[in-house]
Amino acid sequence: MEMLSGKDKELIRGSWESLGKNKVPHGVIIVFFVCDRLFELDPALLSLFHYSTKCDSTQDCVSSPEFLEHVTKVMFVIDAAVSHLDDLQSLEEFLLNLGRKHQAVGVNTQSFTVVGESLLYMLQRSLGQEYTAPVRQAWLNMYSIVVAAMSRGWTKNGEDKAD
Ligand code: HEM
Repeated sequence: MEMLSGKDKELIRGSWESLGKNKVPHGVIIVFFVCDRLFELDPALLSLFHYSTKCDSTQDCVSSPEFLEHVTKVMFVIDAAVSHLDDLQSLEEFLLNLGRKHQAVGVNTQSFTVVGESLLYMLQRSLGQEYTAPVRQAWLNMYSIVVAAMSRGWTKNGEDKAD
């Protein structure tokens, strides 16, 4: 697993703290963005959350309890990563397993990137002036490490099934 620089860690911790204690409402911004992007990229993904097939607008999607619950789950993972910046390795098993689960429910690894874009968008919207190029890069670096571990689990699950 890759390491983050001391500067990256400092920028991530600082900006995460700036968002305040309650991260979930910020996560809701993710919902809006993810919904839009998912519709563009792969509308079929929405059915994975067991939406009614009528989930054909961002508004329907946002009001789905399954989707909102999943946002809380994503924010939990991001929060865990920020809390373990000095030892991301300790999350390896958890992230591998998470990747496996996503492979099992039919989520593509490219979709993890969409969630990453949404996270950056949420940070940009919430941090305003504080969202500098180095802050963006630090978050990208951290998210890439998380997704790389999830993707390893995803691939492993696919290989195990093929055996
Ligand atoms: C567009 C991309 C994604 C889709 C379509 C997706 C879909 C799903 C689905 C269908 C489930 C199972 C039902 C549920 O628990 O809600 C799930 C579980 C979960 N997802 Fe995602 N997911 C995506 C990306 C991510 C990312 C990037 C993260 C974390 C950074 C994440 C974190 C989780 C967690 C923590 C669970 C619960 C796993 C468990 O029950 O042990 N998801 N996801």
